Amino acid sequence: MNLNLYNLLMLNDKLRNDFPQLKIKNNNHNLVYLDSAATTLKPQKIINSITEYYEKFSCSTGRGNYFLSSQLESRVSESTKSIAKFLNCDEEEIVFSYNTTYLINIISKILSANVKENDEIILSHAEHSSNLLPWYMIAKAKKLKIKFCPFNEDLTIGVREIKSVISPKTKIVSLAHMTNVLGNTIDVNGIGKFLKERNIYFVVDGAQSISYYPVDIKKIQCDFYVFSAHKMCGPTGLGIMYGRREILEKSEAVIAGGHMLKSLTTDGSHDFTVLSSKRKWQPGTSNYAAIFAMKEVINYLQEIGVDNIRKHCIELKKYLVSEFKKLPNIVMYNEKLESSILTFNVKNCSAEDVSFDLSSKGICVRHGDHCSKILKNVIKTQASLRISFYLYNRKEEIDYLVKQIKEGKDFLNHLFE
Ligand SMILES: Cc1ncc(COP(=O)(O)O)c(C=O)c1O
Repeated sequence: MNLNLYNLLMLNDKLRNDFPQLKIKNNNHNLVYLDSAATTLKPQKIINSITEYYEKFSCSTGRGNYFLSSQLESRVSESTKSIAKFLNCDEEEIVFSYNTTYLINIISKILSANVKENDEIILSHAEHSSNLLPWYMIAKAKKLKIKFCPFNEDLTIGVREIKSVISPKTKIVSLAHMTNVLGNTIDVNGIGKFLKERNIYFVVDGAQSISYYPVDIKKIQCDFYVFSAHKMCGPTGLGIMYGRREILEKSEAVIAGGHMLKSLTTDGSHDFTVLSSKRKWQPGTSNYAAIFAMKEVINYLQEIGVDNIRKHCIELKKYLVSEFKKLPNIVMYNEKLESSILTFNVKNCSAEDVSFDLSSKGICVRHGDHCSKILKNVIKTQASLRISFYLYNRKEEIDYLVKQIKEGKDFLNHLFE
């Protein structure tokens, strides 16, 4: 662990100065951004990198031999190499698209070619709608069965829990490496090995984990790992997928168009061939500005270290829990989990009212079901508040939040003052 940097995270404001958005105010209150599980703030370096594309490289790749096009092509390749190294996989196994949601839809369509009626898909109750609905759609279309894997007492999923639900009909397991409501994780390496030995496809939704955990695809042995750049200090509109080479090569395209076509028939057979396996999965003009900036995103996170970021966030959560324990009107749902997320409610107040009140003081927290409609079966509440930390958060912000919650007391009175 890089101790110096870790100390920097905790002790000084150098890193906070990287984030221009932290300078904005609401009602004269400083911004306290506690919603990084939804999307992270962006450092100036990365904003500059996005701008650099528009200022100096704006063109398309693969359609011209002119200098700009080849300069951009080599920069796209540099970004792809950085990502592949970050994940420990091959460049050819990286595919770019819009976001995690879109990519899980693509994956579900790819894998639907390899399943038949009554086959089973395993998910968990804590999945984000983006790792639920694509499978519901495929299950309905192909008459498959969806089963939900239980959590163990620590709210994690390991091989034992997977064993309790799989059957000879299980073809796909799709789970979040880290969930977005509780921040709980799964034993991704153990499950990956277990499923690989049984030829069951393993899809990992890495939307949350990518910014807190080092990811080693060779150890996980999954078939797909997907995430969104915007949750790791990068731009919106870019989803990144690791796909196992053999699957990417042998599967048929599920969306098609420009940038991918090699030849097509006009004899009524409607066949076409693609330029390469990689091009097959990226039809149309890509989000070059975002891909361009990914090299800077990876540099930024590697310089600080995702392990250090996670440890910093766990420290913040522990501190928040200890402060909340002093308040009799707070109900916490995941206080014991070592994660960057705390989900809670204020007794007798709706989550929506609390978040609205905090917002008037500059504090951004999320309320609702957090796109996880069936988690209520586990935590037994329809709506909650979620605080999620990232590297720019500080203990002083927690003190400020706790003070506001104490002063809020009866939120409804406060709102109608
Ligand atoms: C666990 C998880 N999966 C998927 C998604 C969807 O990500 P995106 O909106 O970038 O497609 C999210 C977003 O919050 C998430 O937390």
